[in-house]
Amino acid sequence: MNNLIIDELNKNLEENLISFHVPGHKLGKIYEKLNYKSILEKIYKMDTTEIPGTDNLHSPEGIIKRSQNNASEAFKSDETYYLINGSTCGIQASIMALCSPKSKIIVNRDCHQSVINACILGDVDPVYIQSEIDKETTILKGVNEDDAIRVIDNNKDAKAIILTYPTYYGMTYDLKKICDYAHSKSMVVIVDEAHGAHLGLSDKLPKTALEQGADIVIQSTHKTLPSFTQSSMIHTQGNRVDKNKLKSILKIIESSSPSYLLMSSLEIAVDIYKRYGKNLMEDLLNNIDNFKNKFIHNKNIEFYETNDATKLFISTTKIGLIGYELETILREEYNIQVELSNYYGSLLVCTIGNDKEDFISLETALNDIIKKYKSNKKINPIDYPNNIPVKKLTPREAFYKDKKSVKIYESIGKICGEYIIPYPPGISLTSPGEIITKEIIDYILFCNKKGMSVSGLKDSTLGKIQIIE
Ligand SMILES: Cc1ncc(COP(=O)(O)O)c(C=O)c1O
Repeated sequence: MNNLIIDELNKNLEENLISFHVPGHKLGKIYEKLNYKSILEKIYKMDTTEIPGTDNLHSPEGIIKRSQNNASEAFKSDETYYLINGSTCGIQASIMALCSPKSKIIVNRDCHQSVINACILGDVDPVYIQSEIDKETTILKGVNEDDAIRVIDNNKDAKAIILTYPTYYGMTYDLKKICDYAHSKSMVVIVDEAHGAHLGLSDKLPKTALEQGADIVIQSTHKTLPSFTQSSMIHTQGNRVDKNKLKSILKIIESSSPSYLLMSSLEIAVDIYKRYGKNLMEDLLNNIDNFKNKFIHNKNIEFYETNDATKLFISTTKIGLIGYELETILREEYNIQVELSNYYGSLLVCTIGNDKEDFISLETALNDIIKKYKSNKKINPIDYPNNIPVKKLTPREAFYKDKKSVKIYESIGKICGEYIIPYPPGISLTSPGEIITKEIIDYILFCNKKGMSVSGLKDSTLGKIQIIE
């Protein structure tokens, strides 16, 4: 047997990897700690499809309905549905349920690619709100409330607005103000809370999107709570959303054989959330505080002040290391896996699955790295191309046009035929139908040389790019 995937996954386990990465269960550590092992040990035998008693995700009336109701109570929604194709399918279903073909949706520019993909599927035209960026770290901070209100005022014919909250980097903004304003203009608010399923666990964390008035909220439970990769939830509240439409689109885009393993893992995550979540979150926030305090007088390491304290952004540029280098050193020399890096630093996703020992290992590694790698090398600043490119075609129009491959620098000024996406975080710099700019090409080529990968292009070597003539 050719155990390629299995061997690599086993290798990770044998290496005792320390995970500051998703999924939130951290290589299953939390299941062992809280005694869910006996259920999970037989999970492969539980794999099933719809048979008497197992209910049906697409028209739940029994155990799945009751399990979802239990989740709804935990997350304080009116209704909650389990998703087995990640938040991706929740975002796509929400957009297609609310926006008919040829209509507009207001979107934060630093949205996940699934939002633009939904616009391709549903023939919806995205109108962007500029995203705020911290120039010194290129951390995406979300939208400015006044910018959002201006875009709403200029596009009153839009049926809905979708916002990422919190951002991948744990940044938030006054979502309530935007929700209230959008509602006053009869718009529905969808929130991509993929990175914020844990926010309800502490008053020290930013308020949840539901608390701030969002109508539909999609959470990647698997990212920041202990469920399996690809298992997510969609929550609704109030009466602005046609729930039957939402459910019928979920039926179209989700598998007709929903995985009971994923649904079971969501049920476990809800159980952990309700029974242990608040205490574990208190411990986690203390561990993070103690860890950061160890470096309070250390000028070599810098932490970016995130609104969601469970997101740690560490910069080592003061000792001459860029983020991509820090990530490689942490993994290769200290067995620590971070979530992602940009030029300036690395982002660590800390969840209730992380324990005190993880932070001790991280502290030891960072102190060692300072000793070993400190240099006078100056890290020159770079500019993140944050301007919104000019749109010539909607994403769907562009998707169906014929494409031609040209050398990357010849694409400048042409209509892009594909996505240009630094990955992670999976946020598109140019989407199909937009004009390619020199600043974007310069940025991706520069960062790619430094260690950033770029997805979305047919030519992954970045030699050529597809354009529309
Ligand atoms: C902001 C944001 N939204 C949505 C998604 C998609 O989530 P999922 O992986 O659960 O499909 C991601 C994935 O990274 C994301 O970063």
